[in-house]
Parts: sequence; C-alpha cells; structure tokens
Amino acid sequence: MSEEKSVGSREKEFYYPSEEILANANVKAYEELYKKSITDREGFWADQADELHWFKKWNKVLDAAKAPFYKWFVGGKLNIVDNAIDRHLKTWRRNKLALIWEGEPGDVRTYSYHALNREVSKFANILKSMGVQKGDIVTIYMPQIPELAIAMLACAKIGAAHSVVYGGFSVEALAERIEDADSRVLVTADGGWRRGKITDLKTIANEAMKRSPTIEVCITVKRTGQQVYMENDRDFWYHDLMSLPVANQKCETEVMDAEDMLFILYTSGTTGRPKGLLHTHGGYAVYTATTHKMVFDIKEEDRWWCAADPGWITGHSYIVYAPLINGATVMMYEGAPNHPYPNRWWSMIEKYGVTILYTSPTAIRGLMRFGEAWPNRHDLSSLRLLGSVGEPINPEAWKWYHRVIGKDKCPIMDTWWQTETGGFMITPLPITPLKPGSATKPFFGNEIAVVDDKGVDVKTGEEGKLVIKSPWPGMARTIYKNPDRYVETYWKDYQQQGWYKAGDSARIDEDGYVWIIGRIDDVIKVSGYRLGTAEIESALVSHKDVSEAAAIALPHDLKGNAIHAYVILRTGITGSKELKETLKNHVSHEMGPIGKPESITFTDSLPKTRSGKIMRRVLKARALGQDEGDLSTLEQ
Ligand code: WTA
Repeated sequence: MSEEKSVGSREKEFYYPSEEILANANVKAYEELYKKSITDREGFWADQADELHWFKKWNKVLDAAKAPFYKWFVGGKLNIVDNAIDRHLKTWRRNKLALIWEGEPGDVRTYSYHALNREVSKFANILKSMGVQKGDIVTIYMPQIPELAIAMLACAKIGAAHSVVYGGFSVEALAERIEDADSRVLVTADGGWRRGKITDLKTIANEAMKRSPTIEVCITVKRTGQQVYMENDRDFWYHDLMSLPVANQKCETEVMDAEDMLFILYTSGTTGRPKGLLHTHGGYAVYTATTHKMVFDIKEEDRWWCAADPGWITGHSYIVYAPLINGATVMMYEGAPNHPYPNRWWSMIEKYGVTILYTSPTAIRGLMRFGEAWPNRHDLSSLRLLGSVGEPINPEAWKWYHRVIGKDKCPIMDTWWQTETGGFMITPLPITPLKPGSATKPFFGNEIAVVDDKGVDVKTGEEGKLVIKSPWPGMARTIYKNPDRYVETYWKDYQQQGWYKAGDSARIDEDGYVWIIGRIDDVIKVSGYRLGTAEIESALVSHKDVSEAAAIALPHDLKGNAIHAYVILRTGITGSKELKETLKNHVSHEMGPIGKPESITFTDSLPKTRSGKIMRRVLKARALGQDEGDLSTLEQ
C-alpha cells in the first residue's frame, strides 16, 4: 500500500498555460479570489448571483439554520429558463445559435435562441394542456435529440420538475424511477440511433408503464419512424400535439422561488433503490453558470461541446442549463463516437468549428485505441480548451488528449464533481499549471480536505476520504421523499464537523493538488457511468435460477472498471456457459447494457460479515490476488 501512496515522480510534472491563455482567461488569478471566496463566501456567491436575472432579489444568501438542509438565495424569485432563454431574446443573442445538433445518420438541426424559445414555449403549453402543474414531476426517457432539452426546459418554464432517465437504461430502472417520482406524464421517443441501430425506447417505455401504472399520458417523439405500439387514450405523438392551436398560445415563464424544485435525477447509491437527488432553480443556476463560465472560460464566440448524455448530471448542468444561461452555442450529437468511423467526433469538431470539448476518460481511451491517424485527418485548430469528467483520467490518456487532440496548446480541465454537487467542485482553471491525472484545486467557495474516519487530515500524499467542509449553492437539497437517507448517506459520518462525505478516496500532494483515487463505497464506475452493486445484484437475483449474487468492479483498460459477478444458483440448477450468457443478458434487459457483467463466476458461498453483509472487498482482493485484509468480521 505504501508504495502506491507515495508521491511518484510524475506528480512533479507541470503543464503550464500559454501566454495567450493567460492573457485572455476570464479569471486571471486563482489564489487571491479563492481566499476572498472563503473569507466572504456569501459575498462571493451574491456577486455571481447578480449576473442572473431575478424577478425579486434574495433577502439572505445562505440559510444554514437547518443544516445540512441548506437554503440559498432565500426569498429570491427567478426561473432558470428565464435566464437560459428569455433574457437573451431581448438582446442580439436572439439570433445567435443556441443549439447545433447532429443525428447519428448525419441529419442536422440548428436552433437560434429565438427558435429554441418557440419550441420550448409550445411544448410547455402542451404539458399544461395535459394537466401538468407546478411541482409535478415529468419523467423524460429519450435519445440525445433536441426534444430532450426542449422537454426539460419546457418543464422548468412552467414550474414542473423533470426526472430524466438515461436512454440506455432498461425496463426495471425506468419503472422504478417513474414510480418513485409518481410521474403522470412520460415523454419518450420511438427510438434513437446508436451505432447504426435503432434503440427501442418506446418498447421499453411500454413495458415499464405496465409495471408502473402512474403514467396517464405518454408523449412520443417520432425520431426513427419505426413501428411502435401506441395505446389509445394514453399515447400521443409529439408532432401531433405540437401542431395543435393550444401549442401556439403565449406561454409565460413561471415565477419560481429560488428553493423550488427544478429536477430530480436518480443516481446509484450503496444500497437498495436509486436515490432521487433534488436540485433547485436558484442555487443550481448560479453554481452551474459560474463554474462553466470560469472553468471553461466561456466567450461569446465559443462553440461548446459537452459530449455527455443529457440523461446524466453532466448533460443536465453542462449541455442544457449552464451553457444556455451563459448564452453559448451548444453542440449536441446523438450517436456513438466511432460511427461510422472512429473520426466521427474529429470530423464534427472540424465541420462546426468546436472550440471546447468536454468528455470522459473512457471516451478518450476508446478513441485513442484507433490511433492518431484518425484525428490527424482533421483540422482541429478551432479547439482552445479541453475537459474531462467522470473518473480519474490516467496520465497516458491525458497526454494523448493533450498532444493529439489539443496539439499541446489546449489546457485540460479535469473536473471532479458528482450528481449531488450539481457542478464542478475540484477543478483547474485555464490559468492553472496542470498535472496529468490531477483535478488540481477546489473551485471558489469550496473548502475540501482528505481525512481519516475521525475527520483528522491524513498526511500529505496519503490516501483518505474526501470531504467538503462548506456548503455551496449547487448542492443537492435532499433525496426526493427521503430526507433521512440524505443525512445518513452524506452527512452522518462527519456529523459533528458538519462536513459532506463525497464517497471518494483521494490524496493531496505537497503542491496542494488533489488526486482522486475512486469510490470507497459500493458504487462502481463503468465507462464513467455510475452503478450500484446493489442494483446489479438485484437484477441478477430477479432471475429464477439465482439465489444470491455479489457484484464487484475490477480494473479494465477501456472502461476504467468492469463488472464481475459472483452467483449462487438455486438448488438443483447447474451452472453452464449458456446460463452465464443468459444471466448477463438478463441483467442487460433489466438494467440496460451498461449494467451487463463482464464475467460471472458460479460459487457455493459468498464471504459475509456476521450480520450478513456481503464483503465485496474480500471478493475483490481474491480476484486480484491481493491480501484480503482484516477478516475479523468475516463469518466463518
Ligand atoms: C467520479 C459525474 C475522478 C467520482 C459528474 C465521483 C471523478 C463520481 C471525476 C460521481 C474526475 C467524477 N476525476 N473521478 N474528474 N469526476 N468522478 O454522480 O468517483 O455520475 O464521486 O457525476 O464520479 O459520479 P456522477
């Protein structure tokens, strides 16, 4: 262990920003502003909030009376959509491109801010006509098409909340999320394009609706034209509704309280069902817009491409809300990065003159594998900044990204954050000297530490638990319908100190740079997607032949981690190669392909604590041939 923890020589290697970057950066000095943001946190955030349009200013920046249930911009009235769209319409930005979208088959659609407003207003009217009211939660299950962003913004405009379920999720995951949110309305599509094939979203939605009967209205966007089953009285085509006269009425943007719910987004936890993290209009708008503008140095002429899926927090914050609030031009692409060829992304960067690319280590590793010739066929000189998110980026991938894509001139913003944090928490700025693989330093206003179980700082360079010591405006306010779980999951371990436990292990080197190591709980990051071992296990156990299951993550060159499952079969069932395949496909059907185990081992027993908890750590150590550690709680 100690070798792993020691500060290696690579950590001395700095990459400095060019004169040009330094001269043009939105933020020109970090230390000074950081100090100011800590000594006067509320003042710092009030200054940032002043950049937005408020129907009524707040009375109090931060209310910590019921911590950890913090409130921000108390008494303030605004709507995030008023900031993301409406206010731009009064300026020349009305004619600016808000969205450039390319479908996988190559079809292109563009929207000016004016056009985006028209579509959002129309769909907002439709939702209202379907009885959607302020405070309702609309579930959205869509491919990466403009209507996904339009539906999200339409909900927010009328004060309804959205719950976007990632389009790669399958029946069980969708049904469970619809049910938890008590959604009456579901917005979906007849399918989407991925690697030349059609994804069967509507078929999955139909099956999910059978399991979760709360849905009364299902609106389907026609994307692929494939035949889908539509039920009378429940199912409507999006384009039919959008052509109704009611869609064309003027639609006022609802005045919301800063603390009103904007969305819930489900994420995997350590146990049981996914948690619906709840974000609000005010703090989230301020936090995402500020981080985006400062970290990615957003300028009027930028073409911003966050190549995540809007179904995850990265897409919510940095495809939809923050860039639109900042009046940027957003690039969005429907399909796979290597379809039809591995130059798809690079050709789009050239074609559209993308200036900033923000993606994940797993995507970079995936594209790196095809070699330099693919990107080298294209003129990537429009790029000026790059970004990474989702898991630690290995220095090899970082350097490839920097050299081959960024031509040694584009700083890489390795942003550490979570669904729970709403926006970037630990991140460089363009002016920060970079170390490949380190997310560098905390963003303004954030105090962080790496501590032991008691909350004492570990020694420089040693591994410990990452905590956030101070509240920030973008923080999730609670877990939907489950405030106790919110406290229990994030705030209980360091209750006395009032710190937020991130669930990651990390270390801080002698230059104060943060190195994220990975999750310490039973959450697995596969290709940057966050999955709970509990979800994979319950999908396995839902198969008739399975009695018990345990899932662990093992290192994988491309995916970062891959899922390995241990399965105890029911008495009388014999394990076979075919059964392994059946079980893998079963998990894929229940959860979606990202949950599909890489491999399955049949076993007669699982290591458990005396209280019956599966010791996944022991399974992992065994699989890796490592020391099994402290086995004192193991049931013999
Ligand atoms: C991991 C994604 C290292 C981390 C925005 C965190 C990272 C989890 C980074 C949250 C990064 C995210 N370096 N690890 N730059 N960014 N992570 O909720 O383990 O899908 O706790 O949010 O991703 O995943 P989530």
